[in-house]
Amino acid sequence: MKSVTINTLNSHKAAGDKFPVITAYDSAFARQIELAGIEVILVGDSLGNVILGYTSTVPVTMDDMLHHTGAVSRGNSKSLIIADMPYMSYATEEDTLANAALLMQAGAQMVKVEGGAWLEESVFSLSQRGVPVCGHLGLTPQSFNKLGGYKVQGRDDEGAELILRDAKILQEAGADMLVLECVPTELATTITETLNIPVVGIGAGPNTDAQVLVLYDMLGFSPRIPKFTKNFLAETNSVQLALQAYADAVRSGAFPQPEHGFK
Ligand code: KIV
Repeated sequence: MKSVTINTLNSHKAAGDKFPVITAYDSAFARQIELAGIEVILVGDSLGNVILGYTSTVPVTMDDMLHHTGAVSRGNSKSLIIADMPYMSYATEEDTLANAALLMQAGAQMVKVEGGAWLEESVFSLSQRGVPVCGHLGLTPQSFNKLGGYKVQGRDDEGAELILRDAKILQEAGADMLVLECVPTELATTITETLNIPVVGIGAGPNTDAQVLVLYDMLGFSPRIPKFTKNFLAETNSVQLALQAYADAVRSGAFPQPEHGFK
């Protein structure tokens, strides 16, 4: 695989070629992901749940994210690496710029932030300073206390319109990519067709430009496997083959199936 840049991903969107994204948190798995030819790694703050044993992403710190982003970048020189900005590390514009700089210096090539219109200025500032940004809308796990739990978002007209509006604002502010988590397939389809930037779905149906899964979920290591994921290790009995099967299934459209999405 050639080194992946945001131009590669934009070309995939323009050509209608779906691409896989997967989370990783260390060098060993990052290397396996490069060997499997997966275009994008997300160093997700899901590491709080799947690596550190917390019950949410709220306790995850900048130090945690810097440690794991550095490890991933040392194991993979080809995939594009996105690092999550952890809870409250982007609460103000000043904090956003300072913490994003640390993640980029640790090896990230893009940072991800959860939220909509309130992030407009921060996304603009990052983008103007040459930091690629991925937005994250729908179910935003850092806000689970405010959302009243881990629930599908945008099910009613008002909620759906708000997410569509936020998506347009983030793109306009300079975001380069958008993750949509746990939203109805119809809404994810509309947003994917509306935006020029690649839209990556998780629990968002089959029509987004890309799919992302949490590595430990798709290997069956997590104690509770969400409805929108699939255990690819069960079919293959090899981490490398499981990663390749996931990548193939996303590219061919075989994953996700209707049972992995929400109406
Ligand atoms: O932290 C994470 O792994 C994520 C994905 C679920 C998109 O944000």
